Amino acid sequence: MARKLMIAGNWKLNKTVGEALELVRDLRRLLSQVRDCEIVIAPPYTALYAVGKAIEDSPIDLAAQELFWEDSGAYTGTVSAPMLAEVGCKLVLVGHSERRQFFNETLESSGKRAKAALKAGLRPILCIGETLKEREANRTMEVVAEQLDAGIQGLSIKEVARCVIAYEPVWAIGTGKVATPAQAQEVHAAIRERLRAKDNGVAESMQILYGGSMKPDNAAELLGQADIDGGLIGGASLTAESFAGIVKARK
Ligand code: 13P
Repeated sequence: MARKLMIAGNWKLNKTVGEALELVRDLRRLLSQVRDCEIVIAPPYTALYAVGKAIEDSPIDLAAQELFWEDSGAYTGTVSAPMLAEVGCKLVLVGHSERRQFFNETLESSGKRAKAALKAGLRPILCIGETLKEREANRTMEVVAEQLDAGIQGLSIKEVARCVIAYEPVWAIGTGKVATPAQAQEVHAAIRERLRAKDNGVAESMQILYGGSMKPDNAAELLGQADIDGGLIGGASLTAESFAGIVKARK
């Protein structure tokens, strides 16, 4: 079965509710005819409810950027999977490198977050990727494998099948330095190979996204690689023209 392309926008710490609604209105206009791509946007928490309402009856799905694994309780400052599902989220990012870099999230907790997301019916987008130091030390495959294992640890194969993997080399995020299509493809193929050890059919069906300075002008070549099934877009998801440009970039 052919894998469906997924283009997901991670808005990070950007957009007020008003700005978010403006962007969504433009995206709806530019993307209304798109059928062969899963389009996902991940606004900040404060805009989720309003954006969720504004994309009802559109081809755009809502995602959150983060979650905590408990459903409720004395955990100040966090949001749970059932709360995200309630406001219309279908997916949630898990283990983004910025969460690990700035907020001390650990790889072990990625697994707990993924499990909690799945329990609430959300698809986790599990983010993995090496730093420049790790790449230069030839440790890319080892690091990525370790992160993948930690993220899907404790999940049944059926649960793994519901996950999306995002390979985001840390050195390519927000830097304008994009991985070459060959560099990205090599890691994507290795990720799929590792999933194949769990279940061949599941590995074949899973979407593996590339993230890191993807733009309309480099998207077609990246998305043309055999094991790159979409993109997780930061900077270029903040304007409707560039995000739609990536959705429509395929050759
Ligand atoms: P940029 O597209 O800005 O490099 O960000 C990628 C990213 O981190 C998406 O999650």
